Amino acid sequence: MAEIDLKALSHNLGVVKKKTGNTNVIAVVKADAYGHGAISVAKHLIQKGVSTLGVAFTSEAILLREAGITCPILVFFDRNSTVELFNYKLTPVVFDINRARELSREAYKQNTVIPVHLKVDTGMGRVGLTLNNALQEIVKISSMKNLRIEGLMSHFSEADIQDKDFAHQQVASFLGLVKSLKKAQIHFKHLHIANSAAVLTMPEAHCNMVRPGIMLYGYAFPGVKGLKPALSLKSRIVLMKKVAKGTPISYGRTFITNRRSSIATVPIGYADGYNRHLSNKGEVLINGHRAPVAGRVCMDTIMVDITNIPSVSYESEVVLIGRQGREKITADDIADKTGTIPYEVLTSIGQRVSRIYTK
Ligand SMILES: Cc1ncc(COP(=O)(O)O)c(C=O)c1O
Repeated sequence: MAEIDLKALSHNLGVVKKKTGNTNVIAVVKADAYGHGAISVAKHLIQKGVSTLGVAFTSEAILLREAGITCPILVFFDRNSTVELFNYKLTPVVFDINRARELSREAYKQNTVIPVHLKVDTGMGRVGLTLNNALQEIVKISSMKNLRIEGLMSHFSEADIQDKDFAHQQVASFLGLVKSLKKAQIHFKHLHIANSAAVLTMPEAHCNMVRPGIMLYGYAFPGVKGLKPALSLKSRIVLMKKVAKGTPISYGRTFITNRRSSIATVPIGYADGYNRHLSNKGEVLINGHRAPVAGRVCMDTIMVDITNIPSVSYESEVVLIGRQGREKITADDIADKTGTIPYEVLTSIGQRVSRIYTK
């Protein structure tokens, strides 16, 4: 079970607002709101003042629309789902002049105008109009009558590191382009480049809209302070047993008890996003103590060594991410152990894990 603390989400949104002086927020809720459940998270954040949502794919935006969400939704990486963009009144991010032409043609056919945000690549190397041609191309795109250009955006590649040289270059390129476009009488209602790291550390990048994702969920970069992780991952024990010294545990017998031991089986595995690299490395919290993962993580289960933990029962809560008593395990801790980032830890939590929301 993943327990999502809506108050933590509100707190983290409060940090965004405080840092940016209450500017417009696009809440990034792609990948099922980084594993937190996009519909519930989006509804909560909208209620707390978010104006716009951001998702990666049109299919994600459709789920939000079908859940009754009516605010503008930016679709970051669409290319093919033209009809759906119109049917569901979505706002595609356009990063290629040919795509702008396609959308304009479709809008003309439908006798309508489609809102778009244009994206320029200032150094991420992923999607965006190339900086060299951006000015000329945006001039051309802005003459397409069936497009309504509502925003210009870009994306940082390393605003989360201490050395901000490259990030500053990206801001300078972005604002330089905005200036040149202004001279050409092209103005944008919204300008946005700031992800979470830039919201937190680069006020010069806030423009008049920001696009935080990970910080809404309580994480950002190593050492960040003031955010509250919103998600706890919890389970219960399905079996406890006492085993003799020398008993192998789990696939491949990589763990062999070196004493008479108590072993608990917990029904969560790599298919639920509990990374297999946590085999013999992970820890869970039970009765306020740390219990090490014994042996390999299986698809649906892990075994943990509870020999040293007093009074464990089938009622004892098992915390895989979150707090218990004085102990805590964060997505950062798991990321460190598995060689990844908290984004991946959170977005890997599988669909079998039910999400519940607490206030
Ligand atoms: C286009 C875009 N904007 C904003 C974000 C949010 O970034 P972060 O989660 O680092 O705040 C992402 C996430 O990767 C993104 O792809």
